[in-house]
Amino acid sequence: MSEQTRPVRFLLGDERRELSAIDPNTTVLNYLRRVERRVGTKEGCGEGDCGACTVVLGELDGGGLRYRAVNSCIQFLGALDGKQLLTVEDLADGALHPCQQAMVDCHGSQCGFCTPGIVMSLFALYQEPGTPDRNRIDDALAGNLCRCTGYGPIAAAAKAMKAGAEPDLFAGRASETAAALKALDDGAMAGLEGEGRRYFAPRSVDALAKLLLDHPGATILAGGTDVGLWVTKQLRRLGPIIAIGAVEELKRIAVKDGWIDIGAGVTYTDALATIEAHYPDIADMMRRLGSEQIRNAGTIGGNIANGSPIGDSPPPLIALGSRLVLRRGDRLRELALEDFFLDYGKQDRQPGEFVVAVKVPVSDPGCIVRCYKIAKRFDQDITAALGAFALTLQGGEVADIRICFGGMAPVPKRARQAEAALKGKPWTRETVEGACWVLSEDYTPISDMRASARYRLRVAQNLLRKFFIETSEPAARTRIMAERRAAHARA
Ligand SMILES: Cc1cc2nc3c(=O)[nH]c(=O)nc-3n(C[C@H](O)[C@H](O)[C@H](O)COP(=O)(O)OP(=O)(O)OC[C@H]3O[C@@H](n4cnc5c(N)ncnc54)[C@H](O)[C@@H]3O)c2cc1C
Ligand code: FES
Ligand code: FES
Repeated sequence: MSEQTRPVRFLLGDERRELSAIDPNTTVLNYLRRVERRVGTKEGCGEGDCGACTVVLGELDGGGLRYRAVNSCIQFLGALDGKQLLTVEDLADGALHPCQQAMVDCHGSQCGFCTPGIVMSLFALYQEPGTPDRNRIDDALAGNLCRCTGYGPIAAAAKAMKAGAEPDLFAGRASETAAALKALDDGAMAGLEGEGRRYFAPRSVDALAKLLLDHPGATILAGGTDVGLWVTKQLRRLGPIIAIGAVEELKRIAVKDGWIDIGAGVTYTDALATIEAHYPDIADMMRRLGSEQIRNAGTIGGNIANGSPIGDSPPPLIALGSRLVLRRGDRLRELALEDFFLDYGKQDRQPGEFVVAVKVPVSDPGCIVRCYKIAKRFDQDITAALGAFALTLQGGEVADIRICFGGMAPVPKRARQAEAALKGKPWTRETVEGACWVLSEDYTPISDMRASARYRLRVAQNLLRKFFIETSEPAARTRIMAERRAAHARA
């Protein structure tokens, strides 16, 4: 097949850029600071955690535009194709942007390191319709770490920034920007080549499948929120890279024939509303997966393919009985998601094969589903243990139960012995206590920097107890943070 590519094209502010001869491992942050000399965007952690490098990407969305914050430190240049890249230098045009003015007025601007990233997160929030409530503000800012703990005035600026504001500069230029973005795309495959490495962004699943057959050792790139760190933290140099972000067929989410089909290129942000409609508890967990910037780029497909034992989406999806669709060349195959994870770092995927979609059963009113993420911090923290439960009761007895934990084994793993101890039994404290003990036969967790083995096992048992309490004593107060969010929403 032809491997001819056209340059990566994007708008930097409102100026068009075309790049072809550059190392595809170059991050957007390094490009901005070293090539464009736009040094307003800062590097803090270089791993997507602190938000100092936050930039905003504008994209065509139906007839209009949408703006989302991402971490430029872990995004590769190729991801800019067809988009508008906005940095803190773009916001003020004579006068400060309303989000900047609100930061000044509310004394939200503290150190020069975090403020540009915070302003860009506020700018993306500003572009959303309506006035954000406190929950939305907290979610939008959770990926901007301020070490001086001055969130009060920043949140106040977020609340104030839209009060009485006229449409901003960007609203005024929207149709011009949309036309400029449309003009970037000619339907061809974008690519980069530099330092002996290549980057391809095929436009269809067929083209992706063919390219991967030709380059079975290539790195498949979705949102880059894992792959980016291989370059910035492990100092690896990747090539060739085959990105799936321009394959529209993989960016679809559809509900049909009893399944929710989530394409491998669907980001968490785009999946959230559908997941919330079927499984609100899983959506609540996903709101704590990474940060807004991570969820705007990262995909569920990437989380599964990455195969980490502490990936947050596999345990609930396994508990629900989800299936994975893979393709190699023209051959499609489907397997139970739990069978994809063979061992630590080892998945059932052949060279040249890729994830097409994950199929999640639609919600069943007779099945109670809960998902609990345990991490040291509520927001934006990697999981120590995560428990997911799907229970069907009939006449007070357990007709079916599926329990899956992350962080308890080298792979996300079902608690089959605990499930067997519960099936067909009355759903009572006594049987649940029995199953809690059986969990120690299902899992031999390890101790690491996130939690000790003892803590992990204890927490898994306590999560099963919590699940029992939530299903048998609905008035019990088990969700302090949810209560706080509900109070914020009412305020
Ligand atoms: C600051 C930060 C916080 C994070 N917090 C969390 C968290 O709370 N919980 C959590 O679970 N994860 C977290 N992550 C990890 C990461 O965000 C997720 O694993 C995410 O879902 C990865 O998706 P991606 O699209 O970015 O994948 P990428 O980084 O693009 O790819 C990940 C892996 O999957 C492969 N891959 C991607 N797409 C396909 C495909 N279609 N077919 C085959 N292989 C493919 C890639 O080659 C790579 O091996 C965090 C990461 C960062 C940087
Ligand atoms: S530099 Fe910290 S998130 Fe990018
Ligand atoms: S604003 Fe930078 S540490 Fe608080």
